[in-house]
Amino acid sequence: MSETSQIVRLVYASRATFKPFSNVNNAGRMDENIVNILEISRNKNANNQLVGVLYYGHGHFFQCLEGSQKSIDQLYEKLLKDTRHTDLKILSNQTIDKLGFLGWEMKFATTDMEIRSFLKSYNMARFDPYKFDSKMTEGLVEILLKL
Ligand SMILES: Cc1cc2nc3c(=O)[nH]c(=O)nc-3n(C[C@H](O)[C@H](O)[C@H](O)COP(=O)(O)O)c2cc1C
Repeated sequence: MSETSQIVRLVYASRATFKPFSNVNNAGRMDENIVNILEISRNKNANNQLVGVLYYGHGHFFQCLEGSQKSIDQLYEKLLKDTRHTDLKILSNQTIDKLGFLGWEMKFATTDMEIRSFLKSYNMARFDPYKFDSKMTEGLVEILLKL
């Protein structure tokens, strides 16, 4: 990415269309759908000079994508058509000075202690990113940056 091109951070929420933890028989193993999403994301993002993080909890996705406006727009068009999730809602869309997730073709996170206590501090028993305001969105991105 050239130094003059503008970098954008897009954060959105969506609802998984597959059943959460559908492979309960394989305790400790990641859902096959998530494995596939991560594999394709990591391959394609590397080519498209995109980085970011995907958080999955309680059947919801929270994804932060960083890169050029063009790459983000192109990916978002695809994401809107991807039937593995639905009800996409943009939580934040801003220009940034530098990539926060540099080196992460797609970091992955799922419920952990710090996120649980973050949600608790907002009286949220279950992860529901549709209820996030800009402060919560930024707060979760901050946590995911440090994980
Ligand atoms: C929650 C979720 C997150 C995704 N994240 C990415 C991503 O970061 N990068 C990406 O290329 N595809 C991502 N995908 C997959 C795209 O929707 C799409 O299937 C993929 O880019 C392949 O596109 P193509 O069929 O045009 O090659 C994601 C899909 C889902 C459901």
